[in-house]
Amino acid sequence: MAQSIYDKYGGFATVSTLVERFYEYVTASPSLAPYFEGVDMPRLIGHQTQFLCKVLGGPDNYEGRSLRAAHIGLRISPEAFAEVAQHLKSTLEGGGVVPEDVAAVLALVASTRSEIVEE
Ligand code: HEM
Repeated sequence: MAQSIYDKYGGFATVSTLVERFYEYVTASPSLAPYFEGVDMPRLIGHQTQFLCKVLGGPDNYEGRSLRAAHIGLRISPEAFAEVAQHLKSTLEGGGVVPEDVAAVLALVASTRSEIVEE
């Protein structure tokens, strides 16, 4: 069986570091920061780390809500979704993830769009 993206890049420690860096980019963006006002970031970072570990082929310890339940009512626009995806792309590229794997992760993220965006 092919090695998972999770294992290929060093497992939990790497996912955890990249998720922290990702939310630094996201919360530094003037257009995205308002979505995260009042959010318990350590908790969100913990859940996002678990979520990505799971979808990248690592252990499934996800304790958060469904993506739809977590984002309902946040009025996330298509533009905000695209910007978040772009920050994830930059984070992965900066973390040494090869283009083929970056594309695979972004395809996974794109598949969640309808659960997150309010058109
Ligand atoms: C791109 C795909 C996305 C994925 C895979 C994703 C994933 C997640 C996960 C796993 C959680 C934690 C749920 C929980 O704690 O129960 C979460 C929460 C959250 N997400 Fe996303 N998210 C995405 C896009 C976005 C976008 C585009 C925004 C806003 C621009 C956003 C804003 C938030 C906020 C504010 C929370 C915290 C909600 C709360 O605790 O009440 N997310 N997301």
